[in-house]
Amino acid sequence: MARITAGVATSHVPAIGAAIDQGKTAEAYWAPLFAGFERSRTWMREHCPDVVVLVYNDHATSFNLDIIPTFAIGCAEHFAPADEGWGPRPVPVVEGHPELASHIAQSVIEQDFDLTIVNRLDVDHGLTVPLSLLCGQPTQWPVRVIPFAVNVVLYPPPSGRRCFALGAALRRAVESFDDDLDVQIWGTGGMSHQLQGPRAGLINRRWDTQFLDRLISDPDDLAQTPHLEYLQEAGSEGIELIMWLIMRGALSRRVRTVHRFYHVPASNTAVGHLILENAP
Ligand code: DHB
Ligand code: FE
Repeated sequence: MARITAGVATSHVPAIGAAIDQGKTAEAYWAPLFAGFERSRTWMREHCPDVVVLVYNDHATSFNLDIIPTFAIGCAEHFAPADEGWGPRPVPVVEGHPELASHIAQSVIEQDFDLTIVNRLDVDHGLTVPLSLLCGQPTQWPVRVIPFAVNVVLYPPPSGRRCFALGAALRRAVESFDDDLDVQIWGTGGMSHQLQGPRAGLINRRWDTQFLDRLISDPDDLAQTPHLEYLQEAGSEGIELIMWLIMRGALSRRVRTVHRFYHVPASNTAVGHLILENAP
């Protein structure tokens, strides 16, 4: 039987990927950020699963305003790093897990969450930056990845409540897969940030801190947070945090915090990061 062994949450700021790709991680601006992920890379080496279900959003890269699925699962063998305007990142092609992805699609759809099946998908910074933060710069990613895309770019995104319930459905899907696989679930994006308009640059450390506390210890209540609160308190792109609720919903009610990190600034974003394991 496959099992969910841990959950990871991390921001996915594109400038972090550029800093890694351009060898700038030791520069004064970036060093404190990367120091916060050193422990995570060690943990990842020691707890490397067979598969990561990586919840992220496509930033109008592979999807665009013509078609944006609310929830989409990548069922392909491979996913190429996307060209987001300055050439694809120099990172390995992402190897998928079509059998587990197809099983998850069937199970989750039977549990009344309608997923869009995607058989060709280039993956943008939303997916590749978290992989770089946790896995460094290998010639091949050490883990297979199932991309799971959520619409947070065109109103209306799904509710936090639905995302949290979807996480539980994903867990049931993984646990009903016959092969003996260790599976992690990652949620990416956030924390507070606004890239546009008069409030561009908005950061809300107090709200972010409460979000982290509540995600760990009271996720059912946190999942009731309305979209408007994300917008007002965490900025227009803070809504990416609903993807962390999918990750959290796939874990047990009680979790153990292996690592927690928060850092400002990274580009326009407050970077948050959690590694959570199911508590016995
Ligand atoms: C930034 C953050 C994001 O989450 C993103 O998708 C794009 C840009 C930023 O802080 O620059
Ligand atoms: Fe983003």
